[in-house]
Amino acid sequence: MAELFDVDMTKCVKCGLCVEDCAFGALKRGESNVPEMAKEQSCMRCQHCLAICPAGAISFDGRKPEDCKSVKSLALPTLEEAENWLRSRRSVRKFAKDDVDRDLIARLLSSLGNTPTGCNARSLTFTCLPDRASMERFKHAFVGVLEAHRDGTRMLPRWLAIPAIKLRRGGSDIFFRNAPGMLVVSSDTSNPAVTTPVQDVTIACTNFELLANAAGLATCWCGFLNLVGREVPEILERTLGVKQGAPFYAMLFGKPAVRYSRCVRRENYARIVYA
Ligand SMILES: Cc1cc2nc3c(=O)[nH]c(=O)nc-3n(C[C@H](O)[C@H](O)[C@H](O)COP(=O)(O)O)c2cc1C
Repeated sequence: MAELFDVDMTKCVKCGLCVEDCAFGALKRGESNVPEMAKEQSCMRCQHCLAICPAGAISFDGRKPEDCKSVKSLALPTLEEAENWLRSRRSVRKFAKDDVDRDLIARLLSSLGNTPTGCNARSLTFTCLPDRASMERFKHAFVGVLEAHRDGTRMLPRWLAIPAIKLRRGGSDIFFRNAPGMLVVSSDTSNPAVTTPVQDVTIACTNFELLANAAGLATCWCGFLNLVGREVPEILERTLGVKQGAPFYAMLFGKPAVRYSRCVRRENYARIVYA
């Protein structure tokens, strides 16, 4: 089994950057200033030691520095490009008929592994409905659960009952916007390492939106699913196997059937306070 923290003595320049950057003091300078793991229980497995080492001397849990991309080699967006992305991003509610390429979806989901989580708990599940066929199966099950939930004592509220009937009849789809794909991100709160489940889920969704938009796809947050989840708590477990009570959020995605010509203006979007 690979060492958790492994130093290549032929490369280490004993600069101590890895020790200084370790957020919870898991590393220390050992004999002749060579870094070593001192408190493994404090290690978040964030791999900062591997990332910061200028000499490429540190491997972490079998991951070798030569297999990790050099940051310098990456083309990163400028501030202006990042601002333009944020400005031009829109919630798209009209999707083209065709499915998204499966390799592209796999690439986006793999990239999403880089999303940060509190204490590096990484206890997320990405449940992906990658095409129209899986969306149709899901919607069928979704309406089935809603109908089963309604019995003599429990009634669905109108905001849910009426759109559900329309969905059953193949009419308008206010919940899922007739998207050909959906990603549900959920967090496993039974893992004691998870401290920020709601934030972890939201950050992953936000990053998915960013990545999907960069790939020319359209996205729309599916807040409706959470509203339905509050009304019918078993819905996600029954339809997608997402454990009841697990924090989740969903993003609809697909090729856009609509293009926005200009950005909107939101100067007063938030109150900015310098405290
Ligand atoms: C957390 C969240 C939940 C949302 N849920 C829905 C939804 O269920 N259905 C929908 O059509 N739009 C949904 N939206 C989209 C918002 O309505 C949209 O972001 C807002 O109107 C601003 O438009 P823009 O995203 O195009 O800038 C949601 C957005 C967020 C951030």
